Amino acid sequence: MRTQHQDTATEQPPPQTELFERSVPQVGLLSRIRSTTGQQARELWLGALGRVPGLSNVVNRPEARPLRSSSVRMFRWGQAPYGTAEKPESLAEIPWDYIKANEDDIPFLGLREYWYPALKSGQLRHNESRPVTLLGDNIVLFRAADGTARALENRCPHRSALLSLGQVGAYEAGTITCRYHGMTFDGEGSCVAYLADGPDSPAIGKVRARSYPVEEHAGIIWVYMGHNQPSSLLDSQPHARSVLGQRSLIVQHMELPFSHLNMLDNATDLTHVGCLHRTCLLFGSQRPFGEIECEERGPTGLRASYTQAGEHPGKLHIDHVEWYLPNVVYHAPGDLGAGLGEGWFWFVPRDVGSFTAWLIIGGDQSGGPVRRAVTTRLARILTGSLFSRRLGPTTLVSCLLGGDVPMQASQGRVARWDTDRLARGDRSVARARRMVQEAHRAEVAERKRRDSGRSARTTKRGARAEQS
Ligand code: FES
Ligand SMILES: [Fe+2]
Repeated sequence: MRTQHQDTATEQPPPQTELFERSVPQVGLLSRIRSTTGQQARELWLGALGRVPGLSNVVNRPEARPLRSSSVRMFRWGQAPYGTAEKPESLAEIPWDYIKANEDDIPFLGLREYWYPALKSGQLRHNESRPVTLLGDNIVLFRAADGTARALENRCPHRSALLSLGQVGAYEAGTITCRYHGMTFDGEGSCVAYLADGPDSPAIGKVRARSYPVEEHAGIIWVYMGHNQPSSLLDSQPHARSVLGQRSLIVQHMELPFSHLNMLDNATDLTHVGCLHRTCLLFGSQRPFGEIECEERGPTGLRASYTQAGEHPGKLHIDHVEWYLPNVVYHAPGDLGAGLGEGWFWFVPRDVGSFTAWLIIGGDQSGGPVRRAVTTRLARILTGSLFSRRLGPTTLVSCLLGGDVPMQASQGRVARWDTDRLARGDRSVARARRMVQEAHRAEVAERKRRDSGRSARTTKRGARAEQS
């Protein structure tokens, strides 16, 4: 007797193009809705049928089915703990050897000479401090007496206790006092009092905590992480004035447990959209493949697009991406649809294995004030629930948390540039990697020059002190 398997094996295999088209057919909006909502039901139904004696042969057999987004399954995987074959513990480990060997070539902790969003303005009240981690630096934010936001290294210069455990305003309004022995700093990091050492403490005016430049624009507190004197965010980051100058902004942020470099690849990669998101509601009318071309956008940006941009079968697709150093995706007016304005996605490294994703987009800029208020509010609610991960696994809009996030988590805490096999479709990914590498190498070279100058000066001072 011939088995079903033998029957399948003797069939003529379809030619490659036919197989290809069968795997990634165009999917209309209705079938995407059916695919997303019906997926769980189908799995349950087939599982139950498979347990019925005599029926398991009918449902449990090899079958070719078109590629789907499976965002429900992806979402569940993203939420599941590590430590199983499906989600190995090793993915959660930071590959320190690889990082140590490549740290001068790859910016695992991001690029330093840039402004980064640190907190929403409303998250920093008077007389309080907030700790943040940016690019591996622990920073404490608080407000000076005039209300301006200030940023110091979150470490007391006396004996290294966290300043964020201290008190703002204990000595004077707008100063921060370390709780351990009362060393107190103003917003510039100058020691203005040392409570455990008396009013005549010699530390006053001499000891300094490291401070960072801070600006506040459009309800966001920005911190400059570099060594050099910065120009304002508005003058240095492309599109800053137009994005932050919009009449209403939607601002959300979310921490993600893998490197900003995993996100860098994703942000500049158009080719995954027609594959990973192919039955997802937001981008499902994507052309499944195509040639990618790249062009520069000034010295710090690139625009990647499909050369066959007009050939998507529906509106919900992404046919280009505009990206800038340090790791920012820019959406021009009209890109995001629904009347939304210009937008930014900022990917801000926290440490080598995690980053904060910031969404900063203009609310509805069209129509009358009522429509603008309603649609902007709706967009805030939708993005807020996405960014706070409150959406359940049955959500219809899990393109991000049921797609990009699990894929990047599955690459490991830090994706491996040393073993990755980039292919033809990765033209824009390779270009973006090269841009951050070149900027990083320049920063490393400058730091080494500075460090060697400093150690030469220290040696000279030491020699003079010995002679005197
Ligand atoms: S450790 Fe901060 S005052 Fe002593
Ligand atoms: Fe994606």
